[in-house]
Amino acid sequence: MAFTLQDYEESANSIKELRKGHELPEIAIICGSGLGGLAESLEGDVLSVNYEKIPGFVGSTAHGHAGELVFGKLSGKNVVCMKGRFHCYEGYSVHVATFPIRVFKLLGVKIVIVTNAAGGLNPDFNVGDLMLISDHYAHAGMAGLNALIGPNIDDFGPRFPAISDAYTPRLRELFAECYLTNTHLKDEKNLVVHEGVYGMVTGPCYETRVECRALLKLGCDAVGMSTVPEVVVAKHCGLEVLAVSLITNRAVLTKEPSSLDIARAKLNNEPIERKVENFANHEEVMEVANARALDLQTLVKSFLGKI
Ligand code: 6GU
Repeated sequence: MAFTLQDYEESANSIKELRKGHELPEIAIICGSGLGGLAESLEGDVLSVNYEKIPGFVGSTAHGHAGELVFGKLSGKNVVCMKGRFHCYEGYSVHVATFPIRVFKLLGVKIVIVTNAAGGLNPDFNVGDLMLISDHYAHAGMAGLNALIGPNIDDFGPRFPAISDAYTPRLRELFAECYLTNTHLKDEKNLVVHEGVYGMVTGPCYETRVECRALLKLGCDAVGMSTVPEVVVAKHCGLEVLAVSLITNRAVLTKEPSSLDIARAKLNNEPIERKVENFANHEEVMEVANARALDLQTLVKSFLGKI
């Protein structure tokens, strides 16, 4: 069931009440898996609110995700961090998953920064690299799981919005500038930043080999299970978006070896083994996310200082 304008207003008003006497956030940051550390580095009069206390927000069940909103200042800007987001794979509807975005809009937020962990498809991408998202491809979004499905709320935006430039070019250029000028990230931390296309699948299972190859052929550079619903809703209501993926693993693109070849070789007593491949797993994703979290935080802080 979709929400009404009143639902979003009620939630925003309850936050305003909790944050009475403070300036409201102008920037919202959605922290992806293992990337919630940003919320811990907020300054000023910091306030953490458990999602359970906010109307319309649900619990966050994914591992590596806390469930709280944290208000404070970062690089001099008033921000709100979502520590933990709502995914469709948890069983939440697209409306629940994107509920916070419209609440942020009503609070006066102008820019949303989204981070996520993703699997690398582009052969040039390595584990630990970052990808500035320039565009997305969302099979599910084109085939029914679109976050704007349901009655349109005209107060937020048009029925048929153009979302081709959802990933604000100005912000991407600014982020790139932060990377290029923070030379120690490149020279000492070996951090590589790419720009590319994010392919969204709902999950929770990781992609099969052929799904990975298909996504690559369709133009995707990385694949993940989040971000697109939030970005679509943000763009619809006129928010600017910066989205960055941390490449936590490489998606397996190689073809399954032929069982006929293997059986034939075995019958001929020829030595043959199936190659052991490193399929995506959540532990590895969290490990890499934790290892790179500080570098991404440095970049986001530097970015905030420039906007
Ligand atoms: Cl390989 N796939 C998806 N769907 N999500 C991921 C991932 C892969 N790696 C991190 N998150």
